Amino acid sequence: MKMDRRTFLKTTGAAVMASALPMSLIKVAFGAKNPTNDFTFGYISDAHIQQIEGSKFVRNWDMGLIRTIQEANLLTPQPDFFFFGGDLAQLGKKEELDHGLEIMSKLRGKVYYVIGEHDYYLDLGKYWESKISPLWYSFDHKEVHFIVLNSILTYDKWTHKNWSDPMDRMLAMARLDNPEGSPFLVGEKQREWLKKDLEKVDKSTPIVVCSHSPIQKIYKGWNFWTDDAESVQTLLKPFNKVTVIYGHVHQIQYNQIGTISFHAVMATAWPWPYPKSYVQDPSHLPKMTIPMNRADPFFERDATGWQFINLRTGNVDMHYQLPDNENRSVVFNTKTGSPRDMKYQDVSKRIPPQNHF
Ligand SMILES: [Fe+2]
Ligand SMILES: [Fe+2]
Repeated sequence: MKMDRRTFLKTTGAAVMASALPMSLIKVAFGAKNPTNDFTFGYISDAHIQQIEGSKFVRNWDMGLIRTIQEANLLTPQPDFFFFGGDLAQLGKKEELDHGLEIMSKLRGKVYYVIGEHDYYLDLGKYWESKISPLWYSFDHKEVHFIVLNSILTYDKWTHKNWSDPMDRMLAMARLDNPEGSPFLVGEKQREWLKKDLEKVDKSTPIVVCSHSPIQKIYKGWNFWTDDAESVQTLLKPFNKVTVIYGHVHQIQYNQIGTISFHAVMATAWPWPYPKSYVQDPSHLPKMTIPMNRADPFFERDATGWQFINLRTGNVDMHYQLPDNENRSVVFNTKTGSPRDMKYQDVSKRIPPQNHF
């Protein structure tokens, strides 16, 4: 199926200004059962607002977020609410978070926040918690149960080791391929909370989990990895329709494990490189030898774009429009029970990413 933006908008009935900005619009529709409960929400992620000094900030990252918000404000009808998917700041500084929040304040509508590692590892989330949002929580909207997790915790031994300066800890986590970093965790305390939270939810209720790192194991070398992913998945497994939406990876990713589908949202700041196709051999992802390596390093929006997420049936269909690149569709295949990239994915040749570390 080839679906362009116009067809998508016709299908969903949403009128969105055409441009190539990395915001995701998510439509939740209940069809004939309860059409008055249909709704959409937007998703903005990975702004990486970075202070140079004083009131000087990296202009490109500011502009990525500003432009996204300007476009989001033109959405008709307005989404019921937005998520911000984490990494609002680059180095977790108050100045960066404040500047990011000032930009975000121009966004019309309620915003639910997810914390990223770039927001966390300077003061372990203290400023975020006091000023922006709890680190994990849940809420219901119409007929959907939303869960926000803090998936970027790590082992206490690493977090609380004798750092000479909290900024050293931040810098160890801020670089994508830093061997001094540590794999992410949701952690036992939060898993206990999640277990209790889910006890009151009916198994047929659609569940949308928003995390910063993927609650699956993709590539440990870049920390596209959550160490206790399987334990979290076990808690989600009994539910019929679970969608995990995550940021952090700055690229298109999708996967299905049991009843859980996983979808990444793209970044407003920069794209991380991704392979030409999923049949790339022998490595699932290219080895990072050149920072910011990508298909067209001189094109600031390369590998970013519009991403539409259709949750009409409780299974997610994704439609991507990428500047200077082909449109892509990832459609839920009811026969195989997993999302399928209509063009780039050849399941028979695909090597499971978990095996590549
Ligand atoms: Fe990020
Ligand atoms: Fe991140």
